[in-house]
Amino acid sequence: MCGIFGYVNYLVEKQRGEIIDNLIEGLSRLEYRGYDSAGLAIDGDVESEVDIFRAVGKVASLKAEIDQCAPERSTLFTNHVGIAHTRWATHGQPATVNCHPQSSGPQNEFVVVHNGIITNYKAIKILLEGKGFVFDSETDTECIAKLFKHVYDTNLANGHDPDLNELTKQVLFELEGSYGLLVKSVFYPNEVCATRKGSPLLIGVKSEKALKVDFVDVEFPTTDEQVSAKTLQNKRLGLLPVAQGDSGLRQSQSRAFLSEDGAPMPVEFFLSSDPSSVIQHTKKVMFLEDDDIAHIYDGEIHIHRAKRESGASATRSIQTLELELAQIMKGPYSHFMQKEIFEQPESTFNTMRGRIDFENSQITLGGVKSWLPTLRRSRRIIMIACGTSYHSCLATRSIFEELTEIPVAVELASDFLDRRPPVFRDDCCVFVSQSGETADSMLALNYCIERGAITLGIVNAVGSSISRLTHCGVHINAGPEIGVASTKAYTSQYIALVMVALSLSNDSISQTDRHREIVAGLQKIPEQIKTVLELDAPIKELCETVLKDQKSLLLLGRGYQHATALEGALKIKEISYMHSEGVLAGELKHGVLALVDEHLPIIAFATRDSLFPKTMSAISQVTARDGRPIIISNEGDSVWDNALANLQVPLTVDCLQGLLNVIPVQLISYWLAVGRDIDVDFPRNLAKSVTVE
Ligand code: UD1
Ligand code: F6R
Repeated sequence: MCGIFGYVNYLVEKQRGEIIDNLIEGLSRLEYRGYDSAGLAIDGDVESEVDIFRAVGKVASLKAEIDQCAPERSTLFTNHVGIAHTRWATHGQPATVNCHPQSSGPQNEFVVVHNGIITNYKAIKILLEGKGFVFDSETDTECIAKLFKHVYDTNLANGHDPDLNELTKQVLFELEGSYGLLVKSVFYPNEVCATRKGSPLLIGVKSEKALKVDFVDVEFPTTDEQVSAKTLQNKRLGLLPVAQGDSGLRQSQSRAFLSEDGAPMPVEFFLSSDPSSVIQHTKKVMFLEDDDIAHIYDGEIHIHRAKRESGASATRSIQTLELELAQIMKGPYSHFMQKEIFEQPESTFNTMRGRIDFENSQITLGGVKSWLPTLRRSRRIIMIACGTSYHSCLATRSIFEELTEIPVAVELASDFLDRRPPVFRDDCCVFVSQSGETADSMLALNYCIERGAITLGIVNAVGSSISRLTHCGVHINAGPEIGVASTKAYTSQYIALVMVALSLSNDSISQTDRHREIVAGLQKIPEQIKTVLELDAPIKELCETVLKDQKSLLLLGRGYQHATALEGALKIKEISYMHSEGVLAGELKHGVLALVDEHLPIIAFATRDSLFPKTMSAISQVTARDGRPIIISNEGDSVWDNALANLQVPLTVDCLQGLLNVIPVQLISYWLAVGRDIDVDFPRNLAKSVTVE
């Protein structure tokens, strides 16, 4: 759970100060991935010296630490590799010693930044300690840096001088777990290896001249190398690499970044966990695949694989990002979360754009169209996700059941993995994820793929692991979501799921009227969200008065609004640290009612649908115990005279009402957090992209 960033300049003169600023800026855009500590490594004043700067806290603390150390900013580097990291602790407390870059030893011969978890790090650590290495940190990452040094020394002792890519391959043979990894070494000046397994990593390429090629060849090992790789694998944890002849890989087949006459071309590379930290420099990016080793030196990228797999793609394409810098800036808003709440008229529109023909009530989802006949034959739909994404599954489950007439199960990815339930070839497994990188969802996806199920993704981040690994899917096109609390992704996931349910059932004549009703409802949603956002001022006031010093809050909803209640409670807990609980209104009398008195604030969703009378009766049970609920109802309903407050939202089709009802609770959570002086975009203990189990 971390962000990694690297900056490489080749034949481009940069002062050390500029290099530091580049790294710091890249990190600050990745802060949402983790922000309890940060660090970076750059070349020192003396040749073959690497300087590491690290600090606990957000990236600003690292900047302050560097300012205090005052390295000479004007030193010029024509070629240079800098690596940086922002951390969210998994192994070891946030402490300077646990910050990345982690190092091979006091001389910093090998330094690494890492996002992920090395599951066999204890075994490696014991082995390396036995060989005299002294560990300073509690991190799993430190064993990678020290392993590099050990494997390097062993190669030399065997009379072999490996290149950095070969060395990286040897180290990776020993590692289990997940990683996005950058390694820099004094033995390989101005070179870097970047590799990933289960954690995202991409490379931005910036050059003055237009790039002539839009792909890079993958370099597979020769048969001889495969054999020695196999020998190596058999020796796992023997940590004794076999001497290999010169692989000849320096005579690369890939000449992607040379100029017309074959001369080296000035070029800069930006390595990152996320495109948002790259786009201010370049829109040309290459997404690495699992097990790729990208070796960057002499202004070129070489992509290596340890094994030649049948059917594996032999190139990696350089794509053009369709992301604008303005999209990831805060604009006039105080926080990203606030911006993202207010973006929902636009983001929900973007989810539907080009996909719904409102006139003819037709939906065309380019990413699932050809799969529809197969998907319709599914015996069961299993929706799998975590947190807010799970709530969007709950919110749409019933419309899936109604329209498709296929049984639908909704699963929390972690529980699904714990149970390892039966999954069959005729199951359709739907994975919903904003980041597309959530570890539990990814593991559940692999589990379902292994069992032959069809997998469909509903994902925001294009190029993310879930988007790439699912058979088919829909990008929700909500734009980057930076605030840790998910808001606009929820409403867009909800709409994307409804569109999938509509697509799956568009062959049913008996559903025609219902389809028309829902599509007409969808068309109005962006405008209706604008109306709901006008509640901002009264909600702010409510949070500054009635809800200000409360310790706990209940949210009541049933039917479609059960998911809204759960999502509202999660938002409130997550950013205002106030205890809150979403309760299915039908369950009130089975226990929760005991909590109700004149003090406990309760938010009740009482918009008009077929369950409205039942919701009324639940609210009566509350008011009969002197409870004074805050009611979220439809415009014009005035049945709630004794309510503490009445927030009115426009009426829409029953299955879409949750899209409007969730907005007031997003705003409540936002203003409660602001009132408590909480850093809304960075709630404690949380990170945006949960890439650990
Ligand atoms: C695609 C293009 C969009 C273009 C449009 C025009 C992309 C990312 N989208 O949008 O820029 O304007 O065509 O026709 O290039 N997928 C998964 N799993 C997921 C999400 C998506 O496998 O979780 C796959 C889809 O099956 C599809 C591809 O990714 O093959 C793109 O999906 P999506 O962006 O939703 O497709 P379109 O809306 O058609
Ligand atoms: C809550 C929140 C989390 C995420 C969850 C899944 O506001 O953001 O609960 O929804 O961690 O993340 P994704 O959707 O990226 O898989």
